[in-house]
Amino acid sequence: MKYAIRIKASVAVLVTLAIVTPFVSAADLSQDQVVRYLLATAKAFRSVYAKDIVEEAKRGGVKPAENWKDNEHAIMLPAQFIKAAGAEIKDFELSLIGLTPIYKSNLPKTKAEADALKKLAAQPDLKVVTFADGDQFKGLSADFAIAQGCADCHNTHPSSPKKDFKKGDLMGAVVVRLHK
Ligand code: HEC
Repeated sequence: MKYAIRIKASVAVLVTLAIVTPFVSAADLSQDQVVRYLLATAKAFRSVYAKDIVEEAKRGGVKPAENWKDNEHAIMLPAQFIKAAGAEIKDFELSLIGLTPIYKSNLPKTKAEADALKKLAAQPDLKVVTFADGDQFKGLSADFAIAQGCADCHNTHPSSPKKDFKKGDLMGAVVVRLHK
């Protein structure tokens, strides 16, 4: 009888743990994890846009171009796609930054962001860095010149302060900023 009660009690504890634990860990889901998931999602969407949508559009004679709004045979650049998606989001910030950006609005917002970009450039294997910065928690996901076209377009853009990007260079990062 005592055994049965103990077993029942243990089962009850286990069941409670099994039910509660996922919620505890969901509540516990660190800002670090949240930022990493958001970055992974944003990068995945951009990759699909850059690979599948842009490539398919090209077959139909439509190309990505910065001034796509003025050209009926153009669609937005992948960088513009990320920024446009970020502009739709009210709950957190999603954007693109770089140390030598085409537009100054894409400069890091704080010294911690600039330092994180330098760290990603120095240690390419890192790929993602996350950190607390004032009242925000942030994550940066490295954006490398995976194709020569990345470097060429930036190097020849009239507003780009940097004219010598090479394939493989870190060009900047996708950034997520959460309020703590
Ligand atoms: C056809 C031109 C073009 C190509 C190709 C291109 N970019 Fe850009 N990129 C831009 C423009 C224009 C902006 C600025 C967009 C804005 O802020 O409105 C930009 C912005 C960026 C930024 C934000 C910092 C900055 O420089 O303003 C990063 C990082 C970036 N691009 C990385 C890449 C990578 C990586 C690739 C290749 C996978 C790439 N770009 C391909 C034109 C291009």
